[in-house]
Amino acid sequence: MDSMEYLQLLQKILVVSVSLYLFSKIIKHMATFINVGKEPLRVLVTGAAGQIGYSLVPMIAKGMMLGQDQPIILHLLDIEPAMEALNGVKMELIDSAFPLLKGVVATTNAMEACEDVDIAIMVGGYPRKEGMERKDVMSENVSIYKDQAAALEMNAAPNCKILVVANPANTNALILKEFAPSIPEKDITCLTRLDHNRALGQISEKLNVDVSYVKNVILWGNHSSTQYPDVNHATVITDSGEKSVNELVADDQWLKTEFITTVQQRGAAIIKARKLSSAMSAASAACDHIRDWVLGTPKGTWVSMGVYSDGSYGIPSGLIYSFPVTCEKGEWSIVQGLKIDEFSREKMDATAKELIEEKAIAHSCLN
Ligand SMILES: NC(=O)c1ccc[n+]([C@@H]2O[C@H](COP(=O)([O-])OP(=O)(O)OC[C@H]3O[C@@H](n4cnc5c(N)ncnc54)[C@H](O)[C@@H]3O)[C@@H](O)[C@H]2O)c1
Repeated sequence: MDSMEYLQLLQKILVVSVSLYLFSKIIKHMATFINVGKEPLRVLVTGAAGQIGYSLVPMIAKGMMLGQDQPIILHLLDIEPAMEALNGVKMELIDSAFPLLKGVVATTNAMEACEDVDIAIMVGGYPRKEGMERKDVMSENVSIYKDQAAALEMNAAPNCKILVVANPANTNALILKEFAPSIPEKDITCLTRLDHNRALGQISEKLNVDVSYVKNVILWGNHSSTQYPDVNHATVITDSGEKSVNELVADDQWLKTEFITTVQQRGAAIIKARKLSSAMSAASAACDHIRDWVLGTPKGTWVSMGVYSDGSYGIPSGLIYSFPVTCEKGEWSIVQGLKIDEFSREKMDATAKELIEEKAIAHSCLN
């Protein structure tokens, strides 16, 4: 073969390779467009006729939780008195013509609702009514979470990821874990992302910077008024690089008082203003929680999740406690090695103490 023929051959190989590459790109693009290629995932939402449920289901059906290329089948569970409202939610889902939504199961039967679900978002629960003691609310929820643990254990898909939203979220998740022993503890979490996001929001407002430039706040502990929002490791991206929140705020007094209480009491402030609880931000936080868990946290960024304690940072094991976590390939891991000062230690222990008390109350309700 002379050099001319050799060059022609090379040219042909190049043209064929480029054509094949472009062809595969076009096919891939078309597949995303018509949503072929991925099997639908089944997502359970309990308490779906309620406030958070109403905000959450369209977010899931629009791909905000699992991505724009992931078809979804929604399983909606509520109780008998809410069945008519639940059917109304189903009608609206159909009327919204969401391209990713491949089916809706609306039921009051927990076993049917849990059938083959890949993700379970547990929003349903018994609300605290006027005159009720903390123990009475706990007792109602403990029995709900005990029953639903059994339904998930028997019917959910293997490796189903579970997020408990309903209050008391950490303790409900713990009861679910204890009554579903075959579900790995790594698959059971509770929502503290709303509090994490509230902390990001407060720092962004204080510094007048875009909220997406603020990262690595931490929400330690219980989703209750003892929670500890911590900015000691948080940073802000600025024109001159990443800077610590402590340095930029430069107001230790504010960070140790008003900032913490504002985040802790934000839920109550919203109820006072709206006469309804924070459904939109809770639904959005639930989407953030599952999205980061399944699809991964961005490099160099952590989020807060209520997870089963392994004793990290001296927090007793056997509690569902909110830690800073990173997620990769569908698995979370607690961020290790952060320096904890005396102020933080006290706050982290106080919220752990409350969780130990809640656990004891929950166990006493079971007897
Ligand atoms: N973790 C968080 O960050 C966070 C934030 C906001 C609200 N919450 C909690 O989320 C829960 C839901 O809030 P909401 O505003 O949507 O309340 P909601 O009262 O509007 O809705 C709750 C729904 O749960 C249903 N339900 C009751 N028992 C059930 C059961 N056994 N099985 C299935 N469904 C059942 C009710 O019928 C109702 O439709 C509450 O417990 C609230 O305190 C948690």
